[in-house]
Amino acid sequence: MGASAEALAEKLIADGRLEREEYAPLIDGRTPGIGELLRREAVRLRNEVYGARVFIRGLIEISSSCRNDCLYCGLRRSNKNCERYRLSAEEIIACADEGYGLGFRTFVLQGGEDPALTDGFVCGAVAEIKRRHPDCAVTLSLGERSRESFERLRAAGADRYLLRHETADAAHYARLHPPEMSFDNRLRCLKDLREIGFAVGAGMMVGSPYQTPECLASDLAFIGDFRPEMCGIGPFIPHRDTPFAGFPAGSAELTCFLLSVIRVICPTVLLPATTALGTIHPRGRELGIEHGANVVMPNLSPIAVRKKYELYDNKICTGEESAQCLECLGDRISSAGCEIVVDRGDPVKPFCG
Ligand code: 5AD
Ligand code: FES
Repeated sequence: MGASAEALAEKLIADGRLEREEYAPLIDGRTPGIGELLRREAVRLRNEVYGARVFIRGLIEISSSCRNDCLYCGLRRSNKNCERYRLSAEEIIACADEGYGLGFRTFVLQGGEDPALTDGFVCGAVAEIKRRHPDCAVTLSLGERSRESFERLRAAGADRYLLRHETADAAHYARLHPPEMSFDNRLRCLKDLREIGFAVGAGMMVGSPYQTPECLASDLAFIGDFRPEMCGIGPFIPHRDTPFAGFPAGSAELTCFLLSVIRVICPTVLLPATTALGTIHPRGRELGIEHGANVVMPNLSPIAVRKKYELYDNKICTGEESAQCLECLGDRISSAGCEIVVDRGDPVKPFCG
C-alpha cells in the first residue's frame, strides 16, 4: 500500500520533488482539497520568485507550412485543408514594431518546420528585430533543427527556444508522431539548445490520445531532471482534419493541477497560461494564472493569417486587433490577482539545487 495522495502532495511541497513512481498515484488520487493545497503553494512560490506579475510574449506565427506529420496537429503536411502562408521578413518586423509600441519586450517567432525558413532567413529576421529593439528578447519556436542551425540562430541573437518534448514516454511519443520522428531526436535538440546557451522551453499536452498517468509521471520526472527555463503545457484539443479528430480534449482541471505541480517542482520556471487552456474554458488563462502560471502569449500575427495557423479547432483571439486583445487580457489577468508588466521577463536562475 503506497502513501495517500494527500501525503504525496505534502511530500512534494516539503521536498520540491517526488520519485517518478509517486507522481501517478498523486495524479490518480487528487481531490479538490489536494489541488487547492498545491495551488496555494504554487502561487506562493511564483510570487516569491517573480512577484504577482505576468510577462507577456508577443507571438508571431511566421509560417503555417510544415514538413512534419504529427498526428495531433492541424498544420501537419497531410492536412490538405490547411491554408499555407509564410510571412515576409518585412511583415515579421512590422509585427514586432507594433508589439513594441504595445509594451511587448519579448517576441516569439513560431512556425511549422518549413524548409523555406532557412538559417539565413531566420537569422536575418532575428538580427533586425534585435537591432531595432535591443532591449527585447527573441524566442524561437521552429521545431527540430540541426545543432549547427541552432548555433547560427543563437549567434544571430536569439535568446530562447521553445521545443515542447510533447511526452517523455518514448512509446507514447511513437503513437503521437510519424515513424520518422523520435523522442531521442527531441532530446538531442533540447540538450543541444541548452549547451549552445539558449534558455530552453519544454512542455507537453495534457490529455493527448493514449496518455496515461504514468506518461504524465514521466513528464514530471523529466521536467524535474532537465529543469527547463520555460514549460508550455496545455490541453490537447482535437483538430477536425487530423487522425485524432475523434478524441476528446484534455481537461482544464488536470491542466491546472499540473501547472501547480510543475511550479512546485521548478519554482523559477516561466510557465504560460496557454491559449489552448483559454480555448477549452472561458476563464482558462485566468485559472492558469491562479494555479501558478506567470506568462501569457498574445497573438501579434497579422489578422489576415491568424485563422490559418490552426493547430487545433476553435482557437481563440483570432479576430481581435493586438491592442484589443491585450486590453482584454489585462482585465483577465487583474481578475486573477496579477498585473501585466512591460519587461523582458528573463528566467530567474534557480537558487537551490
Ligand atoms: N491541441 C493542443 N496543442 C497542440 N499543439 C499542436 N497540436 C495541438 C492540439 N491539437 C501544441 C504542441 C506543439 C505546440 C506548438 O502546439 O504541443 O508543440
Ligand atoms: Fe484576446 Fe481577450 S485575450 S480577445
